Amino acid sequence: MSSYNEKIALQIKDLLFSGDQSSENNSRRTILSSLLSIQDRFGYIPEIAIETIATYMNVSINDVWSVASFYKNFRFEPPAKHLIEVCWGPSCYFKDCSTMISMIFDLLGLDDEGTNRDGDISVRYNTCLGACAQGPVISIDGQLEGKLNGDTAVNLIKKLKESAN
Ligand code: FES
Repeated sequence: MSSYNEKIALQIKDLLFSGDQSSENNSRRTILSSLLSIQDRFGYIPEIAIETIATYMNVSINDVWSVASFYKNFRFEPPAKHLIEVCWGPSCYFKDCSTMISMIFDLLGLDDEGTNRDGDISVRYNTCLGACAQGPVISIDGQLEGKLNGDTAVNLIKKLKESAN
């Protein structure tokens, strides 16, 4: 095990399995709750987390992996520096978010959700960002931007990239 993985494994052990193993918290712990805690802490599920959970919960790696892979919300790659969520919910759809989304993907060299080649921006779909009257809407690092079109959205992302340089 690399020293990086050893460090992560220790952090996971402290996060999930420290203290008295018979304590109330530990007796209620499930594979799913463990994975959720890890994603909250690290922003993704590091590979070593699967093995660490299996070891400390006395289950197989396959048991942990089957839960981790079942839920779409778990991510297995470290998050990029910036996260853009693009809304494709019904209100935004009727205001032509499709054109905007496709221009955002073109700008970042993406065909679908994921992280750009520079590794600094991830894009994810969202089914409603909760600002339907402002559609089309995107969120940049949690900040909502509404009443956009393809050009205004692309300009915002260009500015984001410039500010990072
Ligand atoms: S559908 Fe886009 S913000 Fe609600």
